[in-house]
Amino acid sequence: MSEPIAIGLMGFGVVGTGLLSAIEQKAAALQQRIGRRVVVRKVLVRDPLKPRQLPDGITLTTDADDILSDSAIPIVVEVMGGEHPAREYINRALHEGKHVVTANKEVMAKHGPELLSHAHEHGVLLRYEGSVGGGIPIISPLQDDLAVNNILAVNAIINGTTNYMLTRMSSEGLDYETVLSEARRLGYAEPDPSADVDGVDAAFKLAILASLAFRTTVRDTDVYREGIRRLTPADFRYASELGYAIKLLATARANEGKVQARVHPAFLPLNNPLAKVDGVYNAVELEGDLVDWAMFHGPGAGPIPTSSAILADVIAIACAIAAGGLACTAPAIDAQLPIEPMDDLRTKYYIRLSVFDRPGVMAQVAKELGDGGVSLASVIQKEVGEDGRVAEIVITTHVAQEAAVQDALRRIAALDSVDQVSNLVRVEERIA
Ligand code: NAP
Ligand code: HSE
Repeated sequence: MSEPIAIGLMGFGVVGTGLLSAIEQKAAALQQRIGRRVVVRKVLVRDPLKPRQLPDGITLTTDADDILSDSAIPIVVEVMGGEHPAREYINRALHEGKHVVTANKEVMAKHGPELLSHAHEHGVLLRYEGSVGGGIPIISPLQDDLAVNNILAVNAIINGTTNYMLTRMSSEGLDYETVLSEARRLGYAEPDPSADVDGVDAAFKLAILASLAFRTTVRDTDVYREGIRRLTPADFRYASELGYAIKLLATARANEGKVQARVHPAFLPLNNPLAKVDGVYNAVELEGDLVDWAMFHGPGAGPIPTSSAILADVIAIACAIAAGGLACTAPAIDAQLPIEPMDDLRTKYYIRLSVFDRPGVMAQVAKELGDGGVSLASVIQKEVGEDGRVAEIVITTHVAQEAAVQDALRRIAALDSVDQVSNLVRVEERIA
Protein backbone atom coordinates (compact mmCIF):
# COMPACT_ATOMS: atom_id res chain seq x y z
CA MET A 1 0.00 0.00 0.00
CA SER A 2 1.48 3.43 -1.02
CA GLU A 3 2.10 6.11 1.58
CA PRO A 4 -0.66 8.74 1.96
CA ILE A 5 -0.06 12.14 0.34
CA ALA A 6 0.39 14.67 3.16
CA ILE A 7 -1.07 18.17 3.25
CA GLY A 8 0.14 21.08 5.36
CA LEU A 9 -2.92 23.26 5.99
CA MET A 10 -2.16 26.94 6.60
CA GLY A 11 -5.26 28.45 8.22
CA PHE A 12 -8.02 26.77 10.17
CA GLY A 13 -10.83 29.30 10.11
CA VAL A 14 -14.08 29.21 8.13
CA VAL A 15 -12.58 27.60 5.01
CA GLY A 16 -9.88 25.52 6.77
CA THR A 17 -12.35 23.79 9.11
CA GLY A 18 -14.79 23.22 6.23
CA LEU A 19 -11.98 21.76 4.15
CA LEU A 20 -10.88 19.33 6.85
CA SER A 21 -14.42 18.01 7.26
CA ALA A 22 -14.82 17.74 3.46
CA ILE A 23 -11.56 15.73 3.28
CA GLU A 24 -12.88 13.39 5.98
CA GLN A 25 -16.27 13.10 4.31
CA LYS A 26 -14.76 12.44 0.87
CA ALA A 27 -11.79 10.29 1.99
CA ALA A 28 -12.94 7.22 0.05
CA ALA A 29 -13.74 9.18 -3.12
CA LEU A 30 -10.37 10.96 -2.96
CA GLN A 31 -8.53 7.67 -2.53
CA GLN A 32 -10.42 6.08 -5.38
CA ARG A 33 -9.70 9.02 -7.67
CA ILE A 34 -6.02 9.47 -6.75
CA GLY A 35 -5.07 5.90 -5.92
CA ARG A 36 -3.57 7.06 -2.60
CA ARG A 37 -4.96 8.50 0.61
CA VAL A 38 -4.78 12.24 1.18
CA VAL A 39 -4.26 13.29 4.79
CA VAL A 40 -3.84 16.61 6.58
CA ARG A 41 -0.69 16.22 8.71
CA LYS A 42 -0.17 19.72 10.15
CA VAL A 43 -2.35 22.78 10.65
CA LEU A 44 -0.98 26.31 11.03
CA VAL A 45 -2.94 28.88 13.06
CA ARG A 46 -2.19 32.22 14.68
CA ASP A 47 -3.79 31.74 18.10
CA PRO A 48 -2.77 28.51 19.89
CA LEU A 49 -5.29 29.07 22.70
CA LYS A 50 -8.47 29.13 20.59
CA PRO A 51 -10.57 26.05 21.29
CA ARG A 52 -10.55 23.76 18.22
CA GLN A 53 -11.53 20.25 17.36
CA LEU A 54 -8.67 18.50 15.61
CA PRO A 55 -8.71 14.76 14.92
CA ASP A 56 -5.85 12.62 16.27
CA GLY A 57 -2.76 12.51 14.11
CA ILE A 58 -2.87 16.20 13.09
CA THR A 59 -0.28 18.52 14.62
CA LEU A 60 -1.37 22.08 15.40
CA THR A 61 1.38 24.68 15.06
CA THR A 62 1.89 28.44 15.10
CA ASP A 63 5.26 28.14 13.34
CA ALA A 64 5.01 28.11 9.53
CA ASP A 65 8.44 26.54 9.37
CA ASP A 66 7.00 23.33 10.82
CA ILE A 67 5.17 22.90 7.51
CA LEU A 68 7.52 24.67 5.10
CA SER A 69 10.62 22.70 6.09
CA ASP A 70 8.89 19.34 6.43
CA SER A 71 10.04 17.26 3.46
CA ALA A 72 7.25 14.73 4.08
CA ILE A 73 4.65 17.37 3.10
CA PRO A 74 4.44 17.82 -0.70
CA ILE A 75 1.25 19.94 -0.76
CA VAL A 76 0.56 23.17 1.11
CA VAL A 77 -3.01 24.47 1.20
CA GLU A 78 -3.07 28.17 2.12
CA VAL A 79 -6.41 29.40 3.53
CA MET A 80 -5.12 32.05 5.94
CA GLY A 81 -6.12 35.03 3.84
CA GLY A 82 -4.50 38.50 3.69
CA GLU A 83 -1.45 39.57 1.71
CA HIS A 84 1.22 39.00 4.37
CA PRO A 85 2.57 36.60 5.49
CA ALA A 86 0.54 34.45 3.04
CA ARG A 87 2.53 35.65 0.04
CA GLU A 88 5.87 34.89 1.74
CA TYR A 89 4.70 31.45 2.88
CA ILE A 90 3.47 30.54 -0.62
CA ASN A 91 6.71 31.77 -2.14
CA ARG A 92 8.77 29.80 0.34
CA ALA A 93 6.68 26.63 -0.18
CA LEU A 94 7.24 26.85 -3.96
CA HIS A 95 10.95 27.42 -3.40
CA GLU A 96 11.03 24.27 -1.21
CA GLY A 97 9.56 22.29 -4.13
CA LYS A 98 6.08 22.01 -2.64
CA HIS A 99 2.87 22.32 -4.64
CA VAL A 100 0.52 24.99 -3.37
CA VAL A 101 -3.25 25.36 -3.41
CA THR A 102 -4.59 28.74 -2.31
CA ALA A 103 -8.02 30.38 -2.04
CA ASN A 104 -6.40 33.75 -1.39
CA LYS A 105 -7.70 36.29 -3.94
CA GLU A 106 -5.70 39.17 -2.47
CA VAL A 107 -2.36 37.40 -2.86
CA MET A 108 -3.24 36.10 -6.33
CA ALA A 109 -4.51 39.54 -7.50
CA LYS A 110 -1.42 41.33 -6.23
CA HIS A 111 1.32 38.74 -6.78
CA GLY A 112 -0.19 35.96 -8.90
CA PRO A 113 1.94 36.45 -12.03
CA GLU A 114 5.22 36.33 -10.07
CA LEU A 115 4.11 33.38 -7.94
CA LEU A 116 2.96 31.43 -11.01
CA SER A 117 6.24 32.02 -12.76
CA HIS A 118 8.08 31.04 -9.58
CA ALA A 119 6.08 27.78 -9.49
CA HIS A 120 6.94 27.14 -13.14
CA GLU A 121 10.66 27.69 -12.48
CA HIS A 122 10.57 25.22 -9.59
CA GLY A 123 8.59 22.60 -11.51
CA VAL A 124 5.67 22.66 -9.08
CA LEU A 125 2.01 23.61 -9.34
CA LEU A 126 0.26 26.63 -7.86
CA ARG A 127 -3.50 26.25 -8.15
CA TYR A 128 -6.15 28.74 -7.04
CA GLU A 129 -9.63 27.62 -8.07
CA GLY A 130 -11.12 28.69 -4.70
CA SER A 131 -9.90 32.28 -5.06
CA VAL A 132 -12.68 33.33 -7.47
CA GLY A 133 -16.34 32.38 -7.33
CA GLY A 134 -16.18 29.99 -4.33
CA GLY A 135 -17.44 26.65 -5.61
CA ILE A 136 -17.84 27.66 -9.27
CA PRO A 137 -15.23 26.05 -11.53
CA ILE A 138 -13.78 28.98 -13.47
CA ILE A 139 -9.97 28.99 -13.13
CA SER A 140 -9.62 25.44 -14.37
CA PRO A 141 -11.95 25.95 -17.38
CA LEU A 142 -9.89 29.01 -18.35
CA GLN A 143 -6.60 27.14 -17.85
CA ASP A 144 -7.59 23.84 -19.41
CA ASP A 145 -10.97 23.37 -21.07
CA LEU A 146 -10.93 26.69 -22.94
CA ALA A 147 -7.15 26.83 -23.35
CA VAL A 148 -7.28 26.85 -27.14
CA ASN A 149 -9.61 29.86 -27.27
CA ASN A 150 -8.62 33.49 -27.49
CA ILE A 151 -10.72 34.89 -24.67
CA LEU A 152 -12.22 38.19 -25.80
CA ALA A 153 -14.33 39.22 -22.80
CA VAL A 154 -15.12 38.31 -19.21
CA ASN A 155 -18.31 39.63 -17.60
CA ALA A 156 -19.06 38.65 -14.04
CA ILE A 157 -20.94 39.05 -10.83
CA ILE A 158 -18.27 37.94 -8.37
CA ASN A 159 -19.26 39.41 -5.05
CA GLY A 160 -22.08 37.61 -3.29
CA THR A 161 -22.55 40.16 -0.50
CA THR A 162 -23.23 43.08 -2.84
CA ASN A 163 -25.32 40.92 -5.16
CA TYR A 164 -27.48 39.98 -2.18
CA MET A 165 -27.79 43.67 -1.20
CA LEU A 166 -28.65 44.84 -4.73
CA THR A 167 -31.19 42.04 -5.13
CA ARG A 168 -32.94 43.15 -1.93
CA MET A 169 -32.82 46.85 -2.89
CA SER A 170 -34.38 45.94 -6.21
CA SER A 171 -37.06 43.52 -5.04
CA GLU A 172 -38.10 45.27 -1.80
CA GLY A 173 -37.34 48.94 -2.53
CA LEU A 174 -35.07 49.02 0.54
CA ASP A 175 -32.27 51.55 1.03
CA TYR A 176 -28.54 50.84 1.23
CA GLU A 177 -28.20 51.06 5.05
CA THR A 178 -31.17 48.73 5.64
CA VAL A 179 -29.88 46.02 3.31
CA LEU A 180 -26.36 46.38 4.71
CA SER A 181 -27.69 45.70 8.25
CA GLU A 182 -29.58 42.72 6.87
CA ALA A 183 -26.44 41.39 5.13
CA ARG A 184 -24.48 41.77 8.39
CA ARG A 185 -27.16 39.97 10.37
CA LEU A 186 -27.06 37.07 7.90
CA GLY A 187 -23.26 36.88 8.15
CA TYR A 188 -22.63 37.92 4.52
CA ALA A 189 -21.16 41.37 5.24
CA GLU A 190 -18.18 41.87 7.58
CA PRO A 191 -18.36 44.42 10.45
CA ASP A 192 -16.24 46.60 8.10
CA PRO A 193 -18.02 45.99 4.79
CA SER A 194 -15.76 48.15 2.63
CA ALA A 195 -13.96 45.31 0.81
CA ASP A 196 -17.33 44.13 -0.52
CA VAL A 197 -19.34 47.36 -0.95
CA ASP A 198 -16.46 49.37 -2.43
CA GLY A 199 -15.72 46.70 -5.02
CA VAL A 200 -12.27 45.77 -3.65
CA ASP A 201 -13.08 42.04 -3.40
CA ALA A 202 -14.57 42.02 -6.92
CA ALA A 203 -11.52 43.90 -8.27
CA PHE A 204 -9.18 41.26 -6.77
CA LYS A 205 -11.20 38.50 -8.44
CA LEU A 206 -11.45 40.33 -11.77
CA ALA A 207 -7.67 40.91 -11.82
CA ILE A 208 -7.18 37.15 -11.39
CA LEU A 209 -9.67 36.29 -14.15
CA ALA A 210 -8.37 38.92 -16.57
CA SER A 211 -4.73 37.87 -16.09
CA LEU A 212 -5.64 34.28 -16.83
CA ALA A 213 -8.08 35.04 -19.65
CA PHE A 214 -5.73 37.38 -21.56
CA ARG A 215 -2.47 35.72 -20.37
CA THR A 216 -1.16 39.09 -19.25
CA THR A 217 -0.49 40.84 -15.95
CA VAL A 218 -3.59 42.58 -14.65
CA ARG A 219 -3.29 43.67 -11.03
CA ASP A 220 -6.06 44.82 -8.72
CA THR A 221 -4.73 48.38 -9.09
CA ASP A 222 -5.26 48.16 -12.88
CA VAL A 223 -8.98 47.60 -12.35
CA TYR A 224 -11.16 50.74 -12.40
CA ARG A 225 -13.36 50.46 -9.31
CA GLU A 226 -16.59 52.00 -8.01
CA GLY A 227 -18.73 50.46 -5.27
CA ILE A 228 -22.44 50.42 -4.53
CA ARG A 229 -22.72 53.04 -1.76
CA ARG A 230 -24.26 55.75 -3.99
CA LEU A 231 -27.18 53.65 -5.22
CA THR A 232 -30.58 54.66 -3.83
CA PRO A 233 -34.11 53.25 -4.13
CA ALA A 234 -34.75 55.96 -6.76
CA ASP A 235 -32.06 54.44 -9.03
CA PHE A 236 -33.75 51.04 -8.79
CA ARG A 237 -37.16 52.55 -9.57
CA TYR A 238 -35.81 54.30 -12.67
CA ALA A 239 -33.86 51.20 -13.73
CA SER A 240 -37.05 49.14 -13.56
CA GLU A 241 -39.03 51.82 -15.43
CA LEU A 242 -36.39 51.77 -18.18
CA GLY A 243 -36.20 47.94 -18.34
CA TYR A 244 -32.90 47.25 -16.53
CA ALA A 245 -31.50 45.49 -13.45
CA ILE A 246 -28.66 47.08 -11.45
CA LYS A 247 -25.70 44.80 -10.74
CA LEU A 248 -22.13 45.26 -9.50
CA LEU A 249 -20.54 44.29 -12.78
CA ALA A 250 -16.95 43.09 -13.08
CA THR A 251 -15.96 43.20 -16.72
CA ALA A 252 -12.71 42.89 -18.69
CA ARG A 253 -11.95 42.71 -22.35
CA ALA A 254 -8.93 42.61 -24.61
CA ASN A 255 -9.40 45.25 -27.23
CA GLU A 256 -6.92 46.23 -29.97
CA GLY A 257 -3.95 44.98 -27.96
CA LYS A 258 -5.07 46.66 -24.72
CA VAL A 259 -6.89 45.33 -21.68
CA GLN A 260 -9.79 47.13 -20.09
CA ALA A 261 -10.91 45.99 -16.62
CA ARG A 262 -13.57 47.64 -14.48
CA VAL A 263 -15.84 47.00 -11.50
CA HIS A 264 -18.82 49.31 -11.01
CA PRO A 265 -22.61 49.27 -10.74
CA ALA A 266 -24.19 48.82 -14.16
CA PHE A 267 -27.64 48.86 -15.71
CA LEU A 268 -28.06 45.50 -17.46
CA PRO A 269 -31.04 44.80 -19.75
CA LEU A 270 -33.43 42.38 -18.03
CA ASN A 271 -32.83 39.75 -20.73
CA ASN A 272 -29.05 39.72 -20.07
CA PRO A 273 -28.26 36.41 -18.27
CA LEU A 274 -26.27 38.27 -15.59
CA ALA A 275 -29.33 40.41 -14.78
CA LYS A 276 -31.05 37.24 -13.56
CA VAL A 277 -28.29 36.22 -11.12
CA ASP A 278 -29.74 37.02 -7.71
CA GLY A 279 -28.89 36.76 -4.02
CA VAL A 280 -25.43 35.58 -2.95
CA TYR A 281 -24.94 33.67 -6.20
CA ASN A 282 -22.07 34.51 -8.55
CA ALA A 283 -21.77 34.07 -12.31
CA VAL A 284 -19.00 34.46 -14.84
CA GLU A 285 -19.64 34.78 -18.55
CA LEU A 286 -16.76 34.33 -21.01
CA GLU A 287 -16.49 34.96 -24.71
CA GLY A 288 -13.99 32.76 -26.53
CA ASP A 289 -13.27 32.88 -30.25
CA LEU A 290 -14.14 29.18 -30.63
CA VAL A 291 -16.60 28.48 -27.82
CA ASP A 292 -18.54 31.78 -28.27
CA TRP A 293 -20.29 32.67 -24.97
CA ALA A 294 -20.11 30.29 -22.00
CA MET A 295 -21.54 30.99 -18.56
CA PHE A 296 -20.63 29.55 -15.14
CA HIS A 297 -23.08 30.06 -12.28
CA GLY A 298 -23.15 28.93 -8.64
CA PRO A 299 -22.43 29.66 -4.98
CA GLY A 300 -19.69 32.30 -4.81
CA ALA A 301 -18.51 31.61 -1.26
CA GLY A 302 -19.04 29.44 1.82
CA PRO A 303 -16.70 26.86 3.35
CA ILE A 304 -18.18 23.77 1.71
CA PRO A 305 -18.49 25.10 -1.89
CA THR A 306 -14.98 26.59 -1.53
CA SER A 307 -13.71 23.21 -0.29
CA SER A 308 -15.12 21.66 -3.45
CA ALA A 309 -12.88 24.00 -5.49
CA ILE A 310 -9.84 23.48 -3.26
CA LEU A 311 -10.19 19.69 -3.40
CA ALA A 312 -10.36 19.78 -7.19
CA ASP A 313 -6.94 21.45 -7.09
CA VAL A 314 -5.67 18.95 -4.53
CA ILE A 315 -6.82 16.07 -6.76
CA ALA A 316 -5.06 17.54 -9.82
CA ILE A 317 -1.81 17.87 -7.87
CA ALA A 318 -2.09 14.55 -6.02
CA CYS A 319 -2.80 12.71 -9.30
CA ALA A 320 0.33 14.28 -10.79
CA ILE A 321 2.35 13.22 -7.73
CA ALA A 322 0.86 9.71 -7.78
CA ALA A 323 1.64 9.41 -11.50
CA GLY A 324 5.22 10.48 -10.82
CA GLY A 325 5.20 13.70 -12.84
CA LEU A 326 3.43 16.91 -13.70
CA ALA A 327 0.88 17.46 -16.40
CA CYS A 328 1.61 20.01 -19.12
CA THR A 329 2.31 23.33 -17.36
CA ALA A 330 2.74 26.16 -19.84
CA PRO A 331 3.55 29.52 -18.23
CA ALA A 332 0.26 31.24 -17.41
CA ILE A 333 1.44 34.69 -18.54
CA ASP A 334 3.09 35.22 -21.91
CA ALA A 335 2.00 38.75 -22.86
CA GLN A 336 2.34 42.20 -21.28
CA LEU A 337 -0.63 44.14 -22.62
CA PRO A 338 -1.13 47.80 -21.68
CA ILE A 339 -4.18 48.78 -19.61
CA GLU A 340 -6.72 50.98 -21.40
CA PRO A 341 -7.51 54.18 -19.45
CA MET A 342 -11.09 54.46 -18.16
CA ASP A 343 -11.40 57.81 -19.99
CA ASP A 344 -11.36 55.87 -23.28
CA LEU A 345 -14.38 53.72 -22.37
CA ARG A 346 -17.32 54.05 -24.75
CA THR A 347 -20.69 53.01 -23.40
CA LYS A 348 -24.17 54.35 -22.59
CA TYR A 349 -24.94 56.24 -19.39
CA TYR A 350 -27.77 56.82 -16.91
CA ILE A 351 -27.50 60.20 -15.18
CA ARG A 352 -29.74 61.40 -12.33
CA LEU A 353 -29.76 65.11 -11.51
CA SER A 354 -31.58 67.26 -9.00
CA VAL A 355 -32.29 70.69 -10.55
CA PHE A 356 -34.14 73.89 -9.60
CA ASP A 357 -37.34 73.84 -11.65
CA ARG A 358 -36.80 76.99 -13.73
CA PRO A 359 -37.34 77.79 -17.40
CA GLY A 360 -34.35 76.80 -19.54
CA VAL A 361 -32.68 74.38 -17.11
CA MET A 362 -33.21 71.35 -19.32
CA ALA A 363 -31.79 73.25 -22.30
CA GLN A 364 -28.67 74.18 -20.30
CA VAL A 365 -28.10 70.56 -19.24
CA ALA A 366 -28.68 69.28 -22.77
CA LYS A 367 -26.28 71.93 -24.17
CA GLU A 368 -23.43 70.88 -21.83
CA LEU A 369 -23.87 67.26 -22.85
CA GLY A 370 -24.25 68.16 -26.53
CA ASP A 371 -21.11 70.36 -26.45
CA GLY A 372 -19.22 67.28 -25.25
CA GLY A 373 -20.59 65.18 -28.10
CA VAL A 374 -22.90 63.27 -25.73
CA SER A 375 -26.24 62.52 -27.37
CA LEU A 376 -29.39 62.02 -25.26
CA ALA A 377 -31.45 58.84 -25.69
CA SER A 378 -34.24 59.59 -23.16
CA VAL A 379 -35.20 62.15 -20.54
CA ILE A 380 -37.56 61.73 -17.58
CA GLN A 381 -38.47 64.68 -15.34
CA LYS A 382 -40.26 64.36 -11.99
CA GLU A 383 -40.97 66.94 -9.30
CA VAL A 384 -39.50 65.87 -6.00
CA GLY A 385 -39.58 68.92 -3.68
CA GLU A 386 -42.81 69.53 -1.73
CA ASP A 387 -42.76 73.18 -2.84
CA GLY A 388 -42.24 72.16 -6.46
CA ARG A 389 -38.92 74.07 -6.66
CA VAL A 390 -36.68 71.05 -7.13
CA ALA A 391 -37.15 68.51 -9.87
CA GLU A 392 -35.38 65.24 -10.61
CA ILE A 393 -34.16 64.70 -14.15
CA VAL A 394 -33.10 61.29 -15.37
CA ILE A 395 -31.20 61.13 -18.63
CA THR A 396 -29.97 58.14 -20.59
CA THR A 397 -27.42 58.70 -23.33
CA HIS A 398 -26.45 57.02 -26.54
CA VAL A 399 -22.94 55.54 -26.61
CA ALA A 400 -20.50 58.24 -25.53
CA GLN A 401 -16.93 58.53 -24.34
CA GLU A 402 -16.35 58.37 -20.57
CA ALA A 403 -14.07 61.43 -20.52
CA ALA A 404 -16.64 63.54 -22.40
CA VAL A 405 -19.47 62.49 -20.06
CA GLN A 406 -17.41 63.21 -16.94
CA ASP A 407 -16.34 66.64 -18.30
CA ALA A 408 -19.93 67.54 -19.12
CA LEU A 409 -21.08 66.46 -15.65
CA ARG A 410 -18.46 68.69 -13.99
CA ARG A 411 -19.81 71.65 -16.01
CA ILE A 412 -23.43 70.66 -15.25
CA ALA A 413 -22.70 70.42 -11.50
CA ALA A 414 -21.40 74.00 -11.60
CA LEU A 415 -24.59 75.44 -13.18
CA ASP A 416 -26.68 77.73 -10.88
CA SER A 417 -29.81 75.89 -11.92
CA VAL A 418 -28.44 72.50 -10.82
CA ASP A 419 -28.77 71.38 -7.21
CA GLN A 420 -26.62 68.25 -7.61
CA VAL A 421 -25.56 65.44 -9.91
CA SER A 422 -27.04 62.62 -7.84
CA ASN A 423 -25.70 59.59 -9.68
CA LEU A 424 -24.15 58.22 -12.84
CA VAL A 425 -24.43 54.55 -13.73
CA ARG A 426 -23.04 52.96 -16.89
CA VAL A 427 -25.60 51.19 -19.08
CA GLU A 428 -24.22 48.02 -20.62
CA GLU A 429 -26.47 46.95 -23.49
CA ARG A 430 -24.05 44.43 -24.95
CA ILE A 431 -20.94 43.78 -22.92
CA ALA A 432 -18.75 42.49 -25.68
P1 NAP B 1 -10.75 33.06 8.55
O1 NAP B 1 -11.98 32.41 9.01
O2 NAP B 1 -10.39 34.41 9.07
O3 NAP B 1 -9.53 32.06 8.89
C1 NAP B 1 -8.19 32.41 8.77
C2 NAP B 1 -7.33 31.33 9.41
O4 NAP B 1 -5.97 31.61 9.13
C3 NAP B 1 -7.47 31.25 10.94
O5 NAP B 1 -7.38 29.92 11.36
C4 NAP B 1 -6.26 32.04 11.44
O6 NAP B 1 -5.75 31.59 12.67
C5 NAP B 1 -5.23 31.71 10.36
N1 NAP B 1 -4.27 32.79 10.22
C6 NAP B 1 -4.49 34.05 9.78
N2 NAP B 1 -3.34 34.75 9.77
C7 NAP B 1 -2.38 33.91 10.22
C8 NAP B 1 -0.98 34.04 10.43
N3 NAP B 1 -0.34 35.18 10.21
N4 NAP B 1 -0.30 32.95 10.87
C9 NAP B 1 -0.95 31.78 11.11
N5 NAP B 1 -2.27 31.60 10.93
C10 NAP B 1 -2.98 32.65 10.48
O7 NAP B 1 -10.71 33.18 6.96
P2 NAP B 1 -11.55 32.32 5.91
O8 NAP B 1 -12.90 32.89 5.73
O9 NAP B 1 -11.39 30.89 6.23
O10 NAP B 1 -10.78 32.67 4.53
C11 NAP B 1 -9.51 32.13 4.27
C12 NAP B 1 -9.13 32.43 2.81
O11 NAP B 1 -10.08 31.84 1.95
C13 NAP B 1 -9.10 33.92 2.47
O12 NAP B 1 -8.07 34.16 1.55
C14 NAP B 1 -10.45 34.14 1.80
O13 NAP B 1 -10.45 35.21 0.88
C15 NAP B 1 -10.61 32.83 1.06
N6 NAP B 1 -11.99 32.49 0.75
C16 NAP B 1 -12.93 32.48 1.71
C17 NAP B 1 -14.23 32.12 1.40
C18 NAP B 1 -15.30 32.08 2.45
O14 NAP B 1 -16.45 31.73 2.12
N7 NAP B 1 -14.99 32.39 3.70
C19 NAP B 1 -14.56 31.77 0.08
C20 NAP B 1 -13.56 31.77 -0.90
C21 NAP B 1 -12.28 32.12 -0.56
P3 NAP B 1 -6.61 31.66 14.04
O15 NAP B 1 -7.66 30.58 13.88
O16 NAP B 1 -5.63 31.36 15.10
O17 NAP B 1 -7.19 33.04 14.08
N1 HSE C 1 -16.94 38.46 0.54
C1 HSE C 1 -17.02 37.63 -0.60
C2 HSE C 1 -18.37 37.81 -1.29
C3 HSE C 1 -16.89 36.14 -0.26
O1 HSE C 1 -19.27 38.43 -0.73
O2 HSE C 1 -18.52 37.31 -2.40
C4 HSE C 1 -15.51 35.58 -0.36
O3 HSE C 1 -14.92 35.79 -1.62
